[in-house]
Amino acid sequence: MRGARITGWGIALPDTVVTNADYEARLDTTDSWIVERTGIKERRHGGTTSGLAVESGQRALERAGRRGEEIDLLVLATTTPDQAVPATSSWVHNELGCRGAAFDLNAACAGFVYGLVTAVALLDAGHDRALVVGSDTLSQITDQNDRSTAVLFADGAGALVVEATEGEPLIVAHDLGLDGSLTRILYCDRGSFIVMEGRELFRRAVRATVESAERVLKQADITVEDIALFVPHQANLRIIDAVGQRLGIDPARYAISLDHTGNTSAASCAIALAEAANAGRLADGDLILFSGFGAGMTWASAIVRWGGAPMPPPVAAGAGAPG
Ligand code: ACO
Repeated sequence: MRGARITGWGIALPDTVVTNADYEARLDTTDSWIVERTGIKERRHGGTTSGLAVESGQRALERAGRRGEEIDLLVLATTTPDQAVPATSSWVHNELGCRGAAFDLNAACAGFVYGLVTAVALLDAGHDRALVVGSDTLSQITDQNDRSTAVLFADGAGALVVEATEGEPLIVAHDLGLDGSLTRILYCDRGSFIVMEGRELFRRAVRATVESAERVLKQADITVEDIALFVPHQANLRIIDAVGQRLGIDPARYAISLDHTGNTSAASCAIALAEAANAGRLADGDLILFSGFGAGMTWASAIVRWGGAPMPPPVAAGAGAPG
C-alpha cells in the first residue's frame, strides 16, 4: 500500500459575521440560550459553495507549495452544490487549474471524512496528489425565521492537499456508515428549507459518533490516550462534550471552531483541523481522531497520522512534468 501525507490546508469563511445578538434582535431567542444550548457565538453567511471551495483550495495549495495543475484528483464534499448539473467540483477544478478527476460527494456533515477516506483510497490506486475540499453554504437552505435551525447552520469551506508518498499510510483506521432508516430526522426538499428533529438527532448523533470512534480506536489497536487531537463534527458543543466524555478524551485535545463558525456541514472538520494546524497544535507523527455525523443519517470516523511518511525527493529539472 502507498503512503500519503497532508501537505497543505486552507480555510475560507465569508465576510459577513452574524452574531447571536443579530438573531436576538429579530427572533424569539437569546444569546444565552444559543450559547448554553449550542456553544455557538457567531457564524458567517455569504458566498457560493464553489467560490468558498476555490478560496480554501488556493490557500491549501499555497501552503503545500503546489500549483493547481499538480493536482490530479479533486474531491468536493458538499450538501449545497451551486447547481444540480454540473457538479460544483467542475467549476472549482477549472478555477484552480487542476487536471485529472473531479467529483462531488454528498454525505452531509460527515462528507469531509468520507471525502478524505475516498481520496486516500484513490491515491493508493494510482493518483498522485489530491485536493479534498469540504464546502457548504447552509444559510441558503435554512429558514432564517426559524429559530430552531437558523442559529445553527452557516457557510464556509476547508481544504487539504494530500500527496501520495512511499511509506506509512495517512489513514490508520476508518469507519464509514449510514442508517438510511433515519432520513426523516434531517432533510431538505428541493427549493425548500432544512427540516430537523433536533432532540432526536442529538441523541442519535452522540450514540453513532461514540460507536464509530470506538470502532476505529479498536481497529487501530490504540486508546484515546494515543490521540493528540480530536476533530469532531462541529454541530453542537453539547454533542461534542457528550461524545468526548463517553470516549474519555481530555477536552484540551478537542479541536473547536463552531463558536465562531456555527455548523458548516461538510466544511466543519476541515476548518477545525486547519485552525488547529495554524495554531501549531500538531506535531509530526501525532494521531488525529476525526468523527462526524450528518443527515442520512451518515457517520464517519478516521484516525489520521499528521506528517508521517517523508515526501519523495523533488524531481530534477528537465526530468519531466511533476506527476
Ligand atoms: N432560542 C430559544 N429557544 C429555542 C431555540 C432558540 N434558538 N431553538 C429551539 N428553542 C426551544 C424549542 O422550541 C423548545 O421549546 P418548547 O420546549 O417550548 O417546545 C425548547 O427550546 C427546547 O427545545 P429542544 O429541541 O429540546 O432543545 P435542545 O436542548 O435539544 O437544543 C438543538 C436544540 C440545539 C437543535 C439540539 O437539539 C441540537 O443541537 N440537535 C442536533 C442538531 C444537529 O446536530 N444538526 C446538524 C445535523 S448534521 C447535518 O447533516 C446538517
